[in-house]
Amino acid sequence: MSPNDVIVPVRTTFLPFALPSIGQEEISEVVDSLQSGWITAGPKVKRFEEDFAAYVGADHAIAVNSCTAALHIALTAMGIGPGDEVIVPTLTFCSTANVVVHLGARPVLVDIGADFTVRAEDIERAITPRTKAIIPVHYSGQACELDSLYELAHSHGLAVVEDAAHAVGGEYHDQKIGSRQLGQSLQKGRHAVCFSFYAIKNLATGEGGMITTADTKLAERMRLLTLHGMSRDAWKRYSGSGSWYYEVLAAGYKDNMTDIQASMGLHQLKKLDRFIQTRARYARLYDEAFAGMPEIETPLLQGDRRHAWHLYVIKLGLERLTIDRARFIEALRAHNIGTSVHFIPVHLHPYYQEQFGYRPGDLKHAEYVYDRIVSLPLYPGMAEEDVCDVIAAVRHVVSANRR
Ligand SMILES: Cc1ncc(COP(=O)(O)O)c(C=O)c1O
Repeated sequence: MSPNDVIVPVRTTFLPFALPSIGQEEISEVVDSLQSGWITAGPKVKRFEEDFAAYVGADHAIAVNSCTAALHIALTAMGIGPGDEVIVPTLTFCSTANVVVHLGARPVLVDIGADFTVRAEDIERAITPRTKAIIPVHYSGQACELDSLYELAHSHGLAVVEDAAHAVGGEYHDQKIGSRQLGQSLQKGRHAVCFSFYAIKNLATGEGGMITTADTKLAERMRLLTLHGMSRDAWKRYSGSGSWYYEVLAAGYKDNMTDIQASMGLHQLKKLDRFIQTRARYARLYDEAFAGMPEIETPLLQGDRRHAWHLYVIKLGLERLTIDRARFIEALRAHNIGTSVHFIPVHLHPYYQEQFGYRPGDLKHAEYVYDRIVSLPLYPGMAEEDVCDVIAAVRHVVSANRR
């Protein structure tokens, strides 16, 4: 295509990369909370925790105000601190590594496998006597190969904090991510799963998160840490049957969820399976459309897992194209299609280079992948015609820039 060619956009209106799906049920429930006078953590948070635990099959679910808080609380409760190392895949959102830094520990960044999740062999190579925990990230909503990760963690006595920010509703070997069945081979107190309910996640509460675990002592410790380390939460103190007295048992944080957020969560959870079915249907449409295009590599699916389809990430065959990823994204933008990139590898960020000495070239597969990935719009609020527009725009961009 020559620079003077005029593009006729596939769409006349802009298709955002992502949008939450909020219905009247969520709106009415939020209004109910506002009118009730109970707007911080209260009965709806408790109900949301119970419903969530039942949905994933967890013994304990603790609601917090973000997945970042969930990861931080879980690592804190496990006693991670200065001098410790925590292994984190580099292809993740920065907060997975930031929380390790907050605790004075060292994030040890490792490479990713063909499905963009972390592999046991890469973790094993990074283990030192200082390693205390690993944070596998269920990238895009497809679980990591958990059996081999648990086995490795068990044999080295490491804690596992799963970053399931993308994976609510996902399954591994027919068990929901976060269920008590997964990770049961680990020693007690060494396993927690952290979810995100950020605005555009599969289940959205604006900001929000959840931690699940099968360990009662760890759950109690994490719950204590979410609210200043106080022995009684607000509901226990200020409801009709409450008492004003509390004791501070730890220097905790202010990470609790509110009833306003839980109001949304209660209804989003009921709709979650339907949301994921729609996401999966759209993902299949993308898969089928791109199957015959060697310039576009579709996500690598693992047969023993149910993908939660938070993200649909294509990998560009740059060798077959005359443009790079940045120009591919610009070209889609010219067709009124919004996209995103998940993620800039953590080891390429200036802070991690300056503080921990990482350099480009350190984690080669993640860098190779990063140069080529584009996340396409995938959310239940899209109409099937929107999906068709994205497919048409990708086809246009590829055929205009084929090598
Ligand atoms: C992989 C991953 N981990 C953690 C987080 C942090 O989630 P939150 O925004 O709920 O703190 C995100 C957010 O996008 C994420 O993508």
